[in-house]
Amino acid sequence: MFKENLLKNRVIIVTGGGTGLGKSMATHFSKLGAKVAIVSRKLDVLQQTAADISQQTGNEVLALACDVRKYDEIETVINTVTEKWQLPDVLINNAAGNFISPTEQLTHKAFDVVVDIVLRGTYNFTLALGKRWIEQKIKGDVLNIVTTYASTGSGFVVPSAISKAGVLNLTRSLAAEWGKYGIRLNAIAPGPFPTKGAWDRLLPEPGMEAELLKKIPLNRAGIHSELSNLAVFLISKEVEYITGEVVTIDGGEWINGAGEFNWLHSLKPQHWEAMAKRGKSS
Ligand code: HXC
Ligand code: NAP
Repeated sequence: MFKENLLKNRVIIVTGGGTGLGKSMATHFSKLGAKVAIVSRKLDVLQQTAADISQQTGNEVLALACDVRKYDEIETVINTVTEKWQLPDVLINNAAGNFISPTEQLTHKAFDVVVDIVLRGTYNFTLALGKRWIEQKIKGDVLNIVTTYASTGSGFVVPSAISKAGVLNLTRSLAAEWGKYGIRLNAIAPGPFPTKGAWDRLLPEPGMEAELLKKIPLNRAGIHSELSNLAVFLISKEVEYITGEVVTIDGGEWINGAGEFNWLHSLKPQHWEAMAKRGKSS
């Protein structure tokens, strides 16, 4: 889909890049020639992923331990990547924490842990890198991975929903403020994409995937390469005029849930026939 070496001169940090969608995006960026640093808490997982990606793509991938809640650790990561290559010019804020629970059963610490990873982690990294981009006149790109419920809200994942809403607002707010520096911020709002991290924590029971997928007009979960392709598109300099935008990739899920009459899918042909007759006679 993309020309070879499209991302050759880009240095990209992917938070939460050791697993799931972060790993898929990191792999795709590396295939397209980017220098990629993956960061999260578990160094052993990151090192294994970095080795897997390098073996596939032939490009070096840096694995750096960093808790995105800690500003000093982020500064260290940026310094390390800069010494090794150059100041990163793309940031993918993908790290997240989440679980399902009735909100009244949560402790305040359960709220804190998710808000701190998702919202604080995202503004920490964005601020640390953004300041350097502005100082050094670099037109950096930030891509934030949110969710469809960042806009709609959702019960049972309230700490995540309020954090993702904050991240989406950060995307739009800073796109307006930092546009004058040539810095772009965009977001992707994925529907369900199978990953161990999400499925283990968000399916009430293993095997309940079908329940989740019932709501999706396209009748399937997302495929990782679909999301990775969208990420490449949004960070590429070929679409530099896009900023402050969120692109939904959910097989039509949220729009299906929102549309007043979409439940009529469940009507049988005899219902439609009866209604047509009623309509003609009235
Ligand atoms: C209620 C919970 C809980 C749960 C933890 N807590 N899990 N409360 N239900 N399932 C509470 C704990 O009791 C504790 O509060 C507080 O949260 C901190 O928990 P710790 O286990 O000490 O935190 P920590 O070890 O830092 O782990 C963070 C984590 C964990 C968020 C809880 O799940 C994690 O590491 N997640 C990272 C990966 C992840 O979540 N991936 C999914 C992203 S998917 P107390 O008061 O008891 O001390 C996603 C998709 C969205 O976002 C959309 C899908 C369609
Ligand atoms: P995942 O594999 O569990 O990814 C989450 C990553 O975040 C992990 O690699 C984890 O690594 C990292 N992380 C957690 N806390 C961290 C911290 N304090 N500091 C640094 N890194 C931290 O789940 P995923 O499904 O791929 O999710 C990726 C992104 O997509 C998330 O933003 C999620 O909200 C979003 N999303 C996913 C789906 C889906 O269906 N999968 C749908 C909508 C949105 P460590 O444990 O090593 O720190």
